[in-house]
Amino acid sequence: MPSDNHHKSLSKPETLQIRTNFQPIVLLGFMGAGKTSVARALANKLACEWVDLDKYVERKARKSIPEIFKSLGERAFRQLEIVSLKEVMLNGTVHVIALGGGAWTIEENRKAVAENNFLSIWLDAPFKLCWQRVTNEDANRPLAVNETAARKLFDLRRGIYEQATFKIEIKPENSPENIADQIISLVTGR
Ligand code: S3P
Repeated sequence: MPSDNHHKSLSKPETLQIRTNFQPIVLLGFMGAGKTSVARALANKLACEWVDLDKYVERKARKSIPEIFKSLGERAFRQLEIVSLKEVMLNGTVHVIALGGGAWTIEENRKAVAENNFLSIWLDAPFKLCWQRVTNEDANRPLAVNETAARKLFDLRRGIYEQATFKIEIKPENSPENIADQIISLVTGR
């Protein structure tokens, strides 16, 4: 059996080589657009590290997102989100980040993404698809109160999501792997 060290010394240069061929990426878009599953598929294909920002915030706060909203409020959540995003980008080993649906609407986050030279990609999924997924998943989203409120937020945010470097139109039939392939050809020109 190879030792852990042996395994590390074999896999590290490979990962580094693949990773340095790509500008690091943040995925943004509305709740239910598929940011987390696409980030996972993309990181798998690129053999790089990835982070789901919501999960990172939850670990940092030792609370679930609904608990953070309930006990500390949305403002405190946004502050945690800002600090977490900077931490993850500065870490230097993470190549793909799935943002939470509201992170890109905060100017400080957009600035930090640009300053850290991450590429921003908007997963532009239609509202109907997002809402279908949000209501089908048991993940508790404090800002998905009802369809009318969510649609309002969706319409309000589109103008800000549009500031991303790239946009990918998401159709219901697109699998995360398929979208990851589209992103790879977008960023490599292949
Ligand atoms: C939010 C989206 C959620 C999470 C939080 C707030 C938003 O992330 O960050 O509930 O403001 O749209 P997902 O987009 O991953 O659901």
